[in-house]
Amino acid sequence: MELFEAISTRRSIRRYTADPVDDDKVNKILEAGRWAPSWANTQCWRFVVVRDPEVKARIGQCLMGAKIEGKAVDNPATKAINTVPVLIVVCAEMNKSGCKPGDPTSKDFVTDKGDWFMFDTALASQNMVLAAHGLGLATVIMGAFDAPAVEEILGIPKGYRVVVLLPLGVPTWEGKAPPRKTLDEIVVHDQWDS
Ligand SMILES: Cc1cc2nc3c(=O)[nH]c(=O)nc-3n(C[C@H](O)[C@H](O)[C@H](O)COP(=O)(O)O)c2cc1C
Repeated sequence: MELFEAISTRRSIRRYTADPVDDDKVNKILEAGRWAPSWANTQCWRFVVVRDPEVKARIGQCLMGAKIEGKAVDNPATKAINTVPVLIVVCAEMNKSGCKPGDPTSKDFVTDKGDWFMFDTALASQNMVLAAHGLGLATVIMGAFDAPAVEEILGIPKGYRVVVLLPLGVPTWEGKAPPRKTLDEIVVHDQWDS
């Protein structure tokens, strides 16, 4: 699939068939994550691949819903996580991204943004999501869940955080694109004063 086509036709898909996803495809997707850029090439990401239905079900209990017009609703990806064959849990080692390169003893961050772990793991996640789409698989990036509870379930060591969940399955449909802002609404030229 051509790159721009992959970028524009990728959708968040929350419905999957019962078909399994083979290791070869999972490894290709993890490879795509591994090749993402990162702060001073620190590669703070770690990926936990969950196939165990029991563990997936426990993680499914950690999802956060939302309140829409005062009414509590489930996280839209609740069903996805309970039915999907593979779940990639994207984690990050803390205090690496954004620190002075070559100075592992320094915990000082270089910029006013502090730890860049969210940024680096986002780049790896987007690579994986696009790779999955290119392989005919479906994913959705999930951020609304109780991360400390998932860390407990997976035995994530101290100094690491769980950032997002990426369910990985065979899609039941192509998905429908939610509207995007136009370039006029989001692009400024030269000076942001109008
Ligand atoms: C950081 C982040 C967190 C997200 N968390 C959730 C989530 O918890 N549950 C869910 O169903 N979708 C989640 N999404 C998916 C977005 O809702 C989706 O990307 C957006 O509506 C645009 O749709 P598209 O991905 O099909 O273009 C998340 C996306 C991002 C980037």
